[in-house]
Amino acid sequence: MEANPQELVQAALAAAKRAYAPYSRFRVGAALVAASGRVYTGANVENASYPCGICAERAAVARAVAEGETRFAAVAVAGLKPDDSIAADCTPCGLCRQTLREFAAPDDFKVYVASSESSWREFTLAGLLPESFG
Ligand code: THU
Repeated sequence: MEANPQELVQAALAAAKRAYAPYSRFRVGAALVAASGRVYTGANVENASYPCGICAERAAVARAVAEGETRFAAVAVAGLKPDDSIAADCTPCGLCRQTLREFAAPDDFKVYVASSESSWREFTLAGLLPESFG
């Protein structure tokens, strides 16, 4: 399947609205496209014990791997501020970049970061995580 970035951004935003983020109040959603063409969403899930929290991107990877997927083509990420506006700078954190690297070809894997409901910035994983280990 050719991933449609607009649909992926919409799916990431919908997932962000289901995030559990009472501590940071920063909700993040991810929509991860597997090689099969299926899309797996994830949201950040925080905890009173802060280090137990997981990011949206890694939550999506965990869901997908549990369904038998181990190769991915693209991800869209959307961050929502407490006032429900979109955070345009919600690029994946370092842990998530390395996690995605495990299951992707860095030069080919696309990362779409929502700037608004209908616009996004496009990166490759290689651009976000140069000279990566894996
Ligand atoms: N977070 C994500 O889920 N993904 C990112 O790419 C950046 C940060 C989460 C972690 C934490 O729950 C909240 O956003 C604030 O850092």
